[in-house]
Parts: sequence; C-alpha cells; structure tokens
Amino acid sequence: MTNTNGKGKVIAIDGPAGSGKSTVARALAALMGFDYLDTGALYRAAAIKLVSAGVSEDSGDDLLSSVLRGTLIEFKNGVVYLDGKDVSEEIRTPEAGHYSSVFSAMKPVRDFLLEIQRNVGGTNGSGGIVAEGRDMATVVFPEAWRKFYVTADEPTRAQRRYAQLRKKNAGVTLSTAQSDVASRDDRDTKRAIAPLTKAPGAIEIDTTNLSIEETLERIMREL
Ligand code: DC
Repeated sequence: MTNTNGKGKVIAIDGPAGSGKSTVARALAALMGFDYLDTGALYRAAAIKLVSAGVSEDSGDDLLSSVLRGTLIEFKNGVVYLDGKDVSEEIRTPEAGHYSSVFSAMKPVRDFLLEIQRNVGGTNGSGGIVAEGRDMATVVFPEAWRKFYVTADEPTRAQRRYAQLRKKNAGVTLSTAQSDVASRDDRDTKRAIAPLTKAPGAIEIDTTNLSIEETLERIMREL
C-alpha cells in the first residue's frame, strides 16, 4: 500500500513533547530500513532563522512570509540544514524549543514547512518513511500506511525532557523542564491550525511505563 506523494509506506507518529516519539521513530526507521523525518527539527530551524532575522510573534504574516521565502531548510540523513549550515546542535536549546512552538502556530510557517515535509523522504530508495511530529497523521500524511499517537503522563515527560536537556546544559532544573513541557503542550494543542491531536484511526501508545524497546515492540506488532 502506498501513501500520497509516491513515497511508499509512511508511518506517521505524533505526540507531545517528551513522549519518547523521536527516539522510537529513529529506532523504528533504522529497524525497517526506512527514511526518518523529524519534523520538529524543521520547526526548530525555522524558528532560529526567524529569531535571528528579528521577527517576533507580533510581526505579522507578511514579514514572516518574506523572511521564509529567502530561507532554505533541508533534512538529509537525519541532519537539518538551515541555509546550507548544519544546525543540529543549535536547534536543541530550550530557546529554540520555545520559539519553535510559538512560531509553529503561525500559518506562513506551517505552509512553508508543509511542502518541505512532503518532499523529504524516499531519498535512500527504501520506499518508506517514518515521520514524526504533531500533525503527521492529521495534515501532512493523512493517507499514511500506519498512524500512531505516542504519549506519556506529564510528570514522566517533564522528567525525560529534563534528562535530555541536562546532557547539554548542566544549569537546567526540573522545574524549567516542567514548565517547558506544560507551556508547549498548551500551545501545541490549542493553536488554531493543525493542533496536536490524535488522528482518527491512530493507535495510541502510552509510554509512561514502557521502555524504548517495549514501545518499539508494541509498534512492530501493529505493522
Ligand atoms: O518535536 P519537537 O519538540 O522538536 O518540536 C518543536 C515544536 O515544533 C513543537 O513544540 C511544535 C512544533 N511542531 C509542530 O507544530 N508540528 C510538527 N509536526 C512538529 C513540531
């Protein structure tokens, strides 16, 4: 069975911050020999560009659109490039996470990244792609072969986010991670365009008490 865009099988994985979906999606892609698409990385790269261009959330759609028109964002072999530069490290800061969530609510940003997301993948000839984000199954790949909604309770997600951020920044506290997760949940689920929601027909997996391996096993059972 194929999906839209002639990319072969698409496995769409959506879920909130800290749900474990990125780790699982990356591992699943490797296991299946599929391409991996981290769409959060694209939103993070766009946010870095907008912030560095002096754009704010109140700047208005025209300015956002004009900055994005002159922007090149690519995702190749798990690496995100902004205007030709590898920004894999830069996009992982709490600031990039915050602004990606803020700017992802804006239509010019979503429109700009929609095409990029649909055009990525299939580059290794595997004929398959594991795409993860917030609106994979609802908007970007509504015809996906399999759809998953991966979640976990809020304290668990905050704890995971904390552990992740700590690896790069010893100054991060658990309460920063907690408020980061809470405010991103709020923004990502309540925005008007493509809010985070479980798609009809998506299989929900609560990873609160599951290891990465157990989550993968659970997903593999559905393929
Ligand atoms: O998955 P992440 O934390 O890297 O995503 C960063 C932000 O990007 C997230 O808070 C919301 C936005 N995002 C989105 O709106 N749609 C997606 N498909 C992926 C991410």
